[in-house]
Amino acid sequence: MFSALVTIACLLASANVRAASSNFTCADVASGYLVLGTISESSNTERLKPLGPLDQSDTPYISYDSSPPPLFTLESCNSTYMGFPPNMTWQEGYLVVYGRWKLNGKCVTVGGDGALALKTCATADGKALVNQFFDTTFDAPTGSVSDQAETQLIGYTTNDTSLAMYTTVTRHSKTEVVSQTETPPSNDGGSEHRILFYPDTASGDLPF
Ligand SMILES: *[C@@H]1O[C@H](CO)[C@@H](O)[C@H](O)[C@H]1NC(C)=O
Ligand SMILES: *[C@@H]1O[C@H](CO)[C@@H](O)[C@H](O)[C@H]1NC(C)=O
Ligand SMILES: *[C@@H]1O[C@H](CO)[C@@H](O)[C@H](O)[C@H]1NC(C)=O
Ligand SMILES: *[C@@H]1O[C@H](CO)[C@@H](O)[C@H](O)[C@H]1NC(C)=O
Repeated sequence: MFSALVTIACLLASANVRAASSNFTCADVASGYLVLGTISESSNTERLKPLGPLDQSDTPYISYDSSPPPLFTLESCNSTYMGFPPNMTWQEGYLVVYGRWKLNGKCVTVGGDGALALKTCATADGKALVNQFFDTTFDAPTGSVSDQAETQLIGYTTNDTSLAMYTTVTRHSKTEVVSQTETPPSNDGGSEHRILFYPDTASGDLPF
């Protein structure tokens, strides 16, 4: 009788282990600032504006000109659904990290209209992750986290057809919100936007 109960307990325990191992886990890679870079046709210098939550609401949009700029955390995740490795080094020396941007325990998430907002991080290894997975490309000959990296929502899993995403700004009740779109932005006065990541440095100097 006792040994039967132990057997059942062991079966349940091993079922739990299997369920747990099918979940993805994430690991912190770097912390630093997310910045909107804008290059306009009239000037070839790039304007840099730090990103942050628009307000104190529960699911704030991501806007720019955030002061003081908040420190985001980049984490890489081993999601089977997404299919990407935690990171990959290209021959030329670029390090691409696949994963999520977090702030205050929430994840930068793209909405149906493309606007980025801080929302609850997905816990299931499923399609909600498509809205939270970014690639971040460090120009890193040593395969490590370097000074500056361009980052972008991926928008698809390795089982889907790849697509290009663009960074743009859209208007939400009088405020400009950083967005990701599959449609190339229409000529926005000749401006081009991208999101850059600057790791927090020991010196504390901000490049923007
Ligand atoms: C992710 O990594 C964790 C910790 O190494 C592991 O337990 C888990 O099985 C992995 N999950 C996937 C989907 O690879
Ligand atoms: C991706 O495709 C492979 C091969 O068809 C399949 O075995 C796997 O389950 C798919 N993964 C997801 C997350 O749909
Ligand atoms: C890249 O991934 C490997 C495991 O696949 C890990 O050991 C390494 O720390 C990762 N590098 C970065 C910079 O996250
Ligand atoms: C694995 O993910 C499922 C779905 O989100 C969740 O119900 C379950 O508690 C998770 N298991 C562990 C061990 O975190």
